[in-house]
Amino acid sequence: MLGVIGGTGLNQVEGVEIIETRSLSTPWGQPSAPAQRLRWAQGECWFLPRHGEGHTLAPHRINYRANIHALRLLGVRRVLAVAAVGGIAPSPGPGDLALVEDLIDYTWGRAHSFADGLAGPLQHIEFAPPFDPAWRAQVADCATRCGVPLVTDAVLGVTQGPRLETAAEIRRLAKDGCTLVGMTTMPEAALAKEAGLSYATLAVVVNPAAGTTDGSIHAAIEASLGAGMAQVHRVLEALVGA
Ligand code: HPA
Repeated sequence: MLGVIGGTGLNQVEGVEIIETRSLSTPWGQPSAPAQRLRWAQGECWFLPRHGEGHTLAPHRINYRANIHALRLLGVRRVLAVAAVGGIAPSPGPGDLALVEDLIDYTWGRAHSFADGLAGPLQHIEFAPPFDPAWRAQVADCATRCGVPLVTDAVLGVTQGPRLETAAEIRRLAKDGCTLVGMTTMPEAALAKEAGLSYATLAVVVNPAAGTTDGSIHAAIEASLGAGMAQVHRVLEALVGA
């Protein structure tokens, strides 16, 4: 079954029925929230809100290992991770959706592997590419069929947060080749790969990154989050029915 990890703006998926709620414990602790089994008109998926039910978990406090382990326990093999991000390049810009192609990890101090001497075996996973190409192709195909345009060559810089970046940090990310910036795709994507899951990130651009325009980032987020998430909803609906 499809697993959806929801980010900012996708704490609950409206218009679908919750047919089961599962509180799971894992060897790595508690996931962000109980998982919800959602019934759509065309099918079902498991849904996990990454920041917790009341959106209280900061990116560096999320138990990524427990979340990925919990999805495995539920029998999930394909994960669509939804993430609100800032746009560094002029395109994709606020309101656009991107199926992220590659990433650079700038996070630190997060529990980023199942191989830490506790339970998991040591694996040196290949991480180029970080997202599953066949699964990305399937998501892209669904988006095309439901008329949602997707940018498919974006490079995401994953920063530590929870603060937003300085203008100089964004210039550095741009120089490194990043076109988007977010806070939660790592270590989530790497853990998913260690766990053998097909994982892809559907990023919703909700603001121009720091220093790339005048004006309040939070005002920009407020203005574009709703419309972006409505597009995500359409893609999810198509994927669940695929
Ligand atoms: N930077 C980092 N993470 C984000 C941003 C941003 O500008 N917008 C949404 N998530």
